[in-house]
Amino acid sequence: MTGKAANPDAVNSGSAEDAKEPDTHGEMAREREPLLVVKDLVQEYSTRGPGGVKTGTVHALSGVSFELYPGETLGIVGETGSGKSTLARAVIQVEEPVSGTVEFRGKQMNGMSRKDLRAVRAEMQMVYQDPFGSLNPRWKVSDVISEPMLGHTDMSKQQRQERVEKLLEIVGLDPSIYCNRRPIELSGGQAQRVAIARAVALEPALIICDEAISSLDVLIQAQVLNLFEELRQEIGLAYLFIAHDLATVKQISDSVAVMHLGQLAEIGPAEAIYDAPRHPYTRALLDSIPILDVETGEAKRPVPLKGDPPSPLDPPSGCRFRTRCPLAEDICAEVEPIPTEVGDGSSRPHKVACHFPLEPGQMLPNRPARPAAAAATV
Ligand SMILES: Nc1ncnc2c1ncn2[C@@H]1O[C@H](COP(=O)(O)OP(=O)(O)O)[C@@H](O)[C@H]1O
Ligand code: SF4
Ligand SMILES: [Mg+2]
Repeated sequence: MTGKAANPDAVNSGSAEDAKEPDTHGEMAREREPLLVVKDLVQEYSTRGPGGVKTGTVHALSGVSFELYPGETLGIVGETGSGKSTLARAVIQVEEPVSGTVEFRGKQMNGMSRKDLRAVRAEMQMVYQDPFGSLNPRWKVSDVISEPMLGHTDMSKQQRQERVEKLLEIVGLDPSIYCNRRPIELSGGQAQRVAIARAVALEPALIICDEAISSLDVLIQAQVLNLFEELRQEIGLAYLFIAHDLATVKQISDSVAVMHLGQLAEIGPAEAIYDAPRHPYTRALLDSIPILDVETGEAKRPVPLKGDPPSPLDPPSGCRFRTRCPLAEDICAEVEPIPTEVGDGSSRPHKVACHFPLEPGQMLPNRPARPAAAAATV
């Protein structure tokens, strides 16, 4: 293990098999510098009533930290409203966070000049849920894809056109057919491929996919996931891959971060998150996925997570999951659990924010969560 590997704050990723590869993920990856270091990010929004009077504060992100290494994928999952899109916007600095820092290739992005920020953003691209929302409907596909090149390179028109055609081939669209189409003439899957071609036009080091495949049908989802994987292998892209459920990110993630109400409940190597989750919320999310029992061939009935997430306007004291957690004790209402390395023998960091982390393989007890009032009584 390298010096970097011993850093419990590092989020390094890679399957056990990948770790043996010398030039891709895992052990060797940790000898490199992290591409992205996110520290203690906090984002809040004010809510306002009539006359613009402030009525409250939405705690959208409350102290999120992680690291990402080149060529790796961190899946970020959490229910709607858990702060995933806010995190993406804070990472790319389209919204300045209230506090916390984002470093890209060792340079802090907060407070950067516009010029420097523009240069960094060329290496850090977003792909959104709705491809049509990010594509100008009046432009031809070739213009949509070549536009980012105008401001960042000295390429001639001819070179740009050749690059557009190459990019369309990479994303599996025939340039002779699609160059002159307009977004309105494309299916959702084709439009998302064009959005991805545009995102990779400047050969970024990082792509942030914010629910980028959620609106696509299952077959197209699989094709786009394969495309992401190919791009990772071909040009060494790293991904922050945001989705609202664990099933979606399983295929693509080296590491997985589970968000709950603006915080990281658990973050760790994908195999540990899926096979031996330690946070009750992660376990509950996994239990809510319908799966097939390989031994009996029967579908296992999913156990839905009970109750709605509490409001980020007034998060519960202590652990924000305590109002829905069947393991909650009095301390959970008093003391906020901080992400702590669980030391489960994995060569990669695995952190859990829970006073009573599950043992590997432990299931949740079949008892309801304590009422919020009881949990709050100390
Ligand atoms: N511009 C904003 N103003 C006020 N509240 C916001 C704003 N953006 C997001 N929020 C709130 O912040 C929380 C996190 O939102 P978001 O990051 O969009 O969650 P997710 O992407 O996980 O669904 C939600 O409660 C949302 O309503
Ligand atoms: S800290 Fe307490 S309430 Fe929160 S997840 Fe752990 S056991 Fe449940
Ligand atoms: Mg979102």
